[in-house]
Amino acid sequence: MTIPSDPSASVPPEQASFGFRDVPAAEKANLVRQVFESVAPRYDLMNDLMSGGVHRLWKNALVDVLNPRPGEKFLDVAGGTGDIAFRIARRQMEKGAARGDAGQPDVTVCDINAAMLSVGRDRAADRGLLKGITWTTGDAERLPFPDASFDAYTIAFGLRNVTDIDQALREAVRVLKPGGRYYCLEFSKVTSAPLARAYDTYSSRALPLLGKYVARDPDSYQYLHESIRRFPPQRELAQRMRAAGFANVAWRDMTLGVVALHSGWRI
Ligand SMILES: C[S@@+](CC[C@H](N)C(=O)[O-])C[C@H]1O[C@@H](n2cnc3c(N)ncnc32)[C@H](O)[C@@H]1O
Repeated sequence: MTIPSDPSASVPPEQASFGFRDVPAAEKANLVRQVFESVAPRYDLMNDLMSGGVHRLWKNALVDVLNPRPGEKFLDVAGGTGDIAFRIARRQMEKGAARGDAGQPDVTVCDINAAMLSVGRDRAADRGLLKGITWTTGDAERLPFPDASFDAYTIAFGLRNVTDIDQALREAVRVLKPGGRYYCLEFSKVTSAPLARAYDTYSSRALPLLGKYVARDPDSYQYLHESIRRFPPQRELAQRMRAAGFANVAWRDMTLGVVALHSGWRI
């Protein structure tokens, strides 16, 4: 394994970035699985601590733009402990109730990690949201769904963990119905230089410390920081979405580019 001097450097095709390290592509999914198996029990608490709760606003913004309607079928890939699925399900029920029908949600959560899904199912039970949300183990690069199955596909803080981003984008196109919408919420390139410096200091020093004392797993949170740094910036991701087959690709920065919301349509 090599440690590249430039952490944003591109990775040779048979290798994949795992944080700042390049690893054989075939090993990355397993390493990522170990990270999320380890963090699953404290994942939601850590999200609130690391972002000061702001991740909730970013996720709400995604679901506002998505504007879920009753009768639509949603797929949330790398859906983990269900934050996006719960928001979609609630909107579908609220809109259904407003127009006088039962408003049964239709959301499929797909994640490579059974430990994250298991926490998600427990949270769904606590919230009375067991009906209408399906929990499926699967890899974003080989989704276990037929072609043209969903009206919308979401992926929040998941794409940077995938080994072959382009393959995951092509799979998204495949499972969407014609006219279906794609939304990717992901850490991105901060657009303000002073904030970029402060953010880099925070994420390189504070994240592993929080990981050490709260999640008792500094290495996984070191990976988090490194994987954010190596993820393609806004314009490059948009280009790769177009190459995968999406039309009308656009993005919107949030918190000065700490996070970006990319969107596209399957035509
Ligand atoms: C940072 S969590 C995000 C969870 C959730 N979307 C959220 O916003 O809270 C990343 C998730 O991606 C999942 N993941 C990583 N690689 C994946 C892959 N190749 N296919 C599907 N899920 C994957 C992990 O298991 C983990 O649950």
